[in-house]
Amino acid sequence: MVDAFKINGGKKLKGILEVGGSKNAALPIFVATIIEKGTYILKNVPDLMDIATLSKLLESLGLKVEKIDLNTYKIINNGLSTLVASYDLVKKMRASFLVMGAMLANSNKAIVSLPGGCAIGARPVDLHLKGFEKLGVNLSIEHGYVHGEAKELKGGTFVFDFPSVGATENIIMAAVKAKGITILENAAREPEVEDLCNFLNSMGAKIKGVGSSRLEITGVEKLIPGEYSIIPDRIVAGTFIIAAIMFDGDIKVKGVIEEHSQSFLSKLEEMGVKYKIESGIFSVITKLSDLKSIKITTMPHPGFPTDLQSPIMTLMCLINGNGEIKETIFENRFMHVPELNRMGAKIKIDNHMASIEGVKNFSAAEVMASDLRAGASLILAGLKSEGETIVNRIYHVDRGYEGLVDKLKKIGADIERIKTQA
Ligand code: UD1
Repeated sequence: MVDAFKINGGKKLKGILEVGGSKNAALPIFVATIIEKGTYILKNVPDLMDIATLSKLLESLGLKVEKIDLNTYKIINNGLSTLVASYDLVKKMRASFLVMGAMLANSNKAIVSLPGGCAIGARPVDLHLKGFEKLGVNLSIEHGYVHGEAKELKGGTFVFDFPSVGATENIIMAAVKAKGITILENAAREPEVEDLCNFLNSMGAKIKGVGSSRLEITGVEKLIPGEYSIIPDRIVAGTFIIAAIMFDGDIKVKGVIEEHSQSFLSKLEEMGVKYKIESGIFSVITKLSDLKSIKITTMPHPGFPTDLQSPIMTLMCLINGNGEIKETIFENRFMHVPELNRMGAKIKIDNHMASIEGVKNFSAAEVMASDLRAGASLILAGLKSEGETIVNRIYHVDRGYEGLVDKLKKIGADIERIKTQA
C-alpha cells in the first residue's frame, strides 16, 4: 500500500499559501557541513522526506544531525567516520552525489556510489567528474563507485559544457579549501547555487562572482561554522502562484522573492496575468478567462525553470487558444502529459515539444504521479475538476512540497491522504 491524495475538486479556494524554505538550496547546504568540523545551525529548512534521506546519509558518514524544531537543524561535524557513501543511501536521491565534493574538501579522498538513473532521464555525472579532475583529483570507477583521491586539492580552471546545477555545487564545495584559485566558467546561476555560495562565504570562504556564470574561488585554510537561514523555495512559490491564477485571485502567496522568479513572472505577464507583489505577498488581479496561451522553452537559470514546466502546463490547459512548451533540460519530463490527458486535457507531444489546446475544465480521474513536479501538476488539476481525483504515488510530492495537504485544507480544499494499491 502506498500513499495517495484523494481530492474532491471544484471547491472555491481562498486564503494565503505560505512558501517554506528551498529544498534544492537546503540539500547542498546540508552537504556542505561535511567540509569543516564544527557545529552548524540551519534555519528555514523545509520539513521534507529528501532532507530526512540526506540526514541519514550525513549520519552514516559520522555527522550528528539533530532536528531542533520543525524547520531548524543542528549539525555537528566531529570528523568523518568513513569516506564511503554507500549505494543504499545514494540511490535514494540523486543530490546525494554532492557529498563527493564536500568529502574531497574535508579529506582529499572520497568513495561515492554512482547515483544511477531516475524517472526523468539518465542524468549522468560526467561534468562533476571532469571538474574534480581539474582540481587535481585522481578518479576511477570501480564496482559502481567513484573513487577520488588527491595529495592535495589544487585550484584550476573549468569551463562547463552545460551549466549543471549539481556539478557546479559539487565543484564549488571541492574548491573552497583547495590551494590557489579556481575559476568556473559557464557555471549554473540558479538562486540555490547562489545560496550555497552565500552560506560558504558566511563561513569565511572566498567566492567571487556569486550569482553569475563566472565564479572565482580562492581557497582558504579553514571555514568557521555558524548559523544560516535557507532562501524560500521559488518552485513551490511558482506552483502556488499558478494555483492563485487558476482560482481567479482568491489565493495569495506569501514568501515570493521577485528576483528569483523573473523569467516565470515575465511569462505570466506575456499570458496577460496582472499581479502585484507587496512585502513578498503575491496577489493576482486578472481572471483565468482573460488569459491567452503562449510558448515556453525551459532553460538554465535565468531562463524558465524546468521544475515549473509541469505545473504551468496544467495552467495552460485551462487557457484559451493553443500553447507550446519545449523541454530542453531533461529528456523524459513529459510523463505527466498522458495523466493530464486522462483528466480531459488536450496535449500532444512531439519529441521535446508539447502542444496544448485549451479546454474548459479538467475531469476528475485516478492518476499517477511519476515525479515530484508531475505530482504537483496533477494535484492542481484535481483541485480544479468537479468530483473525485485520486493522485497515486504521492511519495514523490512528499519529497518537495512541505505540509501540502494542511496548507491546501487551510484555504478550503477537500483533500486527504489515503492508502492505495498503486
Ligand atoms: C537540479 C535540481 C532539479 C532541477 C535541475 C535543473 C537539485 C537537488 N535538483 O538537478 O530540481 O530540475 O537542477 O534545474 O537541486 N547533466 C549532464 N552531466 C552532468 C550533470 C548534468 O549531462 O554531469 C545533464 C543532466 O542529465 C540534465 C541536465 O544536465 O539533463 C541538467 O542537470 P543538472 O543541472 O545537473 O540538474 P541537477 O543538479 O541534477
